[in-house]
Amino acid sequence: MSISARLPVFPWDRLEPYKATAVAHSGGAVDLSVGTPVDPVPEVIRQALTAAADSPGYPLTYGTAVLREAAAGYLRQWHGVTGADPAHVLPLIGSKELVGWLPTLLGLTAGDRVAYPRLAYPTYEIGALVARAESVTYEDPVAELDPAGLKLLWLNSPSNPTGRVLSVAELRRIVAWAREHGVLVASDECYIELGWEGAEPVSVLHPDVCGDSHEGLIAVHSLSKRSNFAGYRGAFLAGDPAVVADLLAVRKHTGMIVPAPVQAAMIAALGDRAHAVEQKERYARRRSALRTAFEGAGFRIEHSEASLYLWATRGENCWDTVGDLAKRGILVAPGEFYGPGGEQFVRIAFTAVDERVAAAVARLDDAA
Ligand SMILES: Cc1ncc(COP(=O)(O)O)c(C=O)c1O
Repeated sequence: MSISARLPVFPWDRLEPYKATAVAHSGGAVDLSVGTPVDPVPEVIRQALTAAADSPGYPLTYGTAVLREAAAGYLRQWHGVTGADPAHVLPLIGSKELVGWLPTLLGLTAGDRVAYPRLAYPTYEIGALVARAESVTYEDPVAELDPAGLKLLWLNSPSNPTGRVLSVAELRRIVAWAREHGVLVASDECYIELGWEGAEPVSVLHPDVCGDSHEGLIAVHSLSKRSNFAGYRGAFLAGDPAVVADLLAVRKHTGMIVPAPVQAAMIAALGDRAHAVEQKERYARRRSALRTAFEGAGFRIEHSEASLYLWATRGENCWDTVGDLAKRGILVAPGEFYGPGGEQFVRIAFTAVDERVAAAVARLDDAA
């Protein structure tokens, strides 16, 4: 059987009819369905990309030493990962690439199991399907998972789609359990900088979570949301030296290389905090306006203390909510896309320009 035959229908195709309805609205569509950045790529990043345009030679799969130090320094400085070591960093062609391929790159196959949250970014399941491994979902991994045959445990804090954040104590408990049972933990931390309420999100590599060792752990960081970098495709992982070395060996042989100008742009992005703070402030304003408007229109928001989304319900099937909002020209993602338990929720991204967010707020206020 071909790999594609093992995969589900691409979920976003199912949203197309609703998109057509939203686009037909007299004021145009407000697309809050996909979390794709809409603001300009910061100047400091563009300049670095352009300056590296003359890159005729093959780049290193391992990334330049400067890039790996920029990533390790970023983890040390902004996420308190005191033990971050540039030797144990690996650049990625965006983090979706790793999520989709990690089980395969690790050599997992039929009989091996991959666990991820019950409500989750769909690509964790895809990664397991591509490798022919078995998927298992969880609410609380320690309480629910049988470690037999479990080779990989995905964490995603802050979560897509719920915005839920795992506390230091929860992370510590999960890491201790996984280490006891020899299960590799991959922590998808692509929303780690986007905390809005409550405790700041913490990396699985923070010493309060994992002690002095990164054994059995990898953290995955993406520049897509923090630095409006989604179009460039740039991310990195860091963690367990043996796992990093193993992944590097496979990636070298299979050509999974970040282009040299993108590596240069990543160095600039990781070394600059001002643009990330500015971007976060933009999202904070949009989040607050949308939250007030959706609550005013009868929605209840659950979790959503971090990430780029509001996880909202009106106590009805998600497709009814999607259909109703589409008639008002507002497109959101049905919670069903993210797994069982999402059927009565929709995911509202705050990745629309201010003018479009204001249009959505006005339409919701009119209806309230
Ligand atoms: C939880 C999660 N992981 C990974 C990704 C992939 O991000 P990228 O490939 O742009 O780094 C996304 C994108 O939305 C996501 O929501």
